[in-house]
Amino acid sequence: MHAEAAPLIEKFNLKKVEDFFAPLPPQLYKGEHNGKEIFVILNGQQNGLDLVGCEPATLSTQLLISKLNPTLLINAGTCGAFKSNGSNIGDVYLSKDEIMFHDRRVGESGEWYKMGVGFYPCLDASQMAKDLGFKLGRCTTGSSLDMANEDLALIKKNNGELKDMEAAAIAWVASLYNTPLICVKSVTDLCDGDRTTEEEFRENLSMAANNLKDACFKILDYLLK
Ligand code: ADE
Repeated sequence: MHAEAAPLIEKFNLKKVEDFFAPLPPQLYKGEHNGKEIFVILNGQQNGLDLVGCEPATLSTQLLISKLNPTLLINAGTCGAFKSNGSNIGDVYLSKDEIMFHDRRVGESGEWYKMGVGFYPCLDASQMAKDLGFKLGRCTTGSSLDMANEDLALIKKNNGELKDMEAAAIAWVASLYNTPLICVKSVTDLCDGDRTTEEEFRENLSMAANNLKDACFKILDYLLK
């Protein structure tokens, strides 16, 4: 969403590259940090609304990797998390182990189950998390902001900790190209709290986007020394 990316674009002084993906909706911003080119891609809009979810994320990632062949892909965004895991609103996490879907149910075990859930790789960011003071969590993706009981069951079964709407779609495309991926996720809401997700998400989006910007700055400084 533009609200998630706006603080980043400002902090890194990125400039929009007009019509780079035209006529498709993704939008590209470009700049540099410590002498290296950096890009931010947004899913863009349709009918005046930010495009959220797996289909726009798949399209953006495919376009980005095929046209710009990045050395490293960072999926920076917000997520829901679980207070039962010790998560707090505003926490920033780096992805751990593998990235999964929680609403693609194709049997309960075996090869087709694995295809549905995905279990796509991400980089081992444990040293960076330790050095920079971030938590680590397993990302799990679905197409809804709320959570059906079946989704929760699959999240629990696969020890999912960070619930979003894009990471697994991005990780799937990255896996096809062998592009290294790290997800950086800032918590807007607690999926096992007593508030509605939408209300909590709206209330905390700007604070979480700000934390995300600070985290991305630290990460790029760390990686591009
Ligand atoms: N993005 C932020 N919070 C989320 C949640 N609870 N579920 C899915 N995507 C989110």
